[in-house]
Amino acid sequence: MIRIKKISSYIEDNEKVIDVGCDQAELSELLAKRKIYSIASDLKENIIKNAENRIKDNLKEYITFRVGNGITLEEKEENYTVVLAGMGTHLILDILSNTNKSFNKIITISNNNHDILRREMNNLGYISYIEEIIKERSKYYNLIVFKKGNKTYTKEEELIGVNHRNIELLKERNELLINKYKKIIEKIPNNHSKKEIKNKLIILENYKDRE
Ligand SMILES: C[S@@+](CC[C@H](N)C(=O)[O-])C[C@H]1O[C@@H](n2cnc3c(N)ncnc32)[C@H](O)[C@@H]1O
Repeated sequence: MIRIKKISSYIEDNEKVIDVGCDQAELSELLAKRKIYSIASDLKENIIKNAENRIKDNLKEYITFRVGNGITLEEKEENYTVVLAGMGTHLILDILSNTNKSFNKIITISNNNHDILRREMNNLGYISYIEEIIKERSKYYNLIVFKKGNKTYTKEEELIGVNHRNIELLKERNELLINKYKKIIEKIPNNHSKKEIKNKLIILENYKDRE
């Protein structure tokens, strides 16, 4: 729930939201309590049915439940903030590549490959402008808020992110990555992936030294 509350904190009262891959529609529920309209959308019909059954009737007037693959906005539905959380980077990119709509704001919490996400989102016309590391049940999550734009990230920005709001958790998360990469390097043979991981480690250690 910490993750979902954090996402909600990056949404203003005057925004309309589509939560793609909403699962239990917890975000829409929180937004409805703030009288914010949202579309809770998921690939699976049973998931949407369960979400609909779970949520109190008085909040439902703010929520449109929808079953479908990816961005289920209709043609006339414009100016939505998109939320894509709890998915892998490649699925997020796939979903955003398969819509002809463009968005002023996209909030992601990808499970992996944040460097690829930043780089490929740039190719889709979106740049990261606020980030926050969130810790929930001992796991770290990297929330990224994207807006329209184009920029060349430095290698450090691409790997670690930009404009982080919680530096303490960022440091903890980076330390975890440093240890993880060190262990991987010990185990794998000399090849291209080892070189890539070594480069990531160098970036993280340089960043740490400057703190
Ligand atoms: C792990 S849950 C994440 C739920 C919630 N967004 C969160 O962050 O806690 C991922 C959800 O994405 C949905 N999903 C997977 N692929 C999808 C797609 N192509 N379009 C819409 N929903 C999708 C799954 O059915 C599942 O409910």
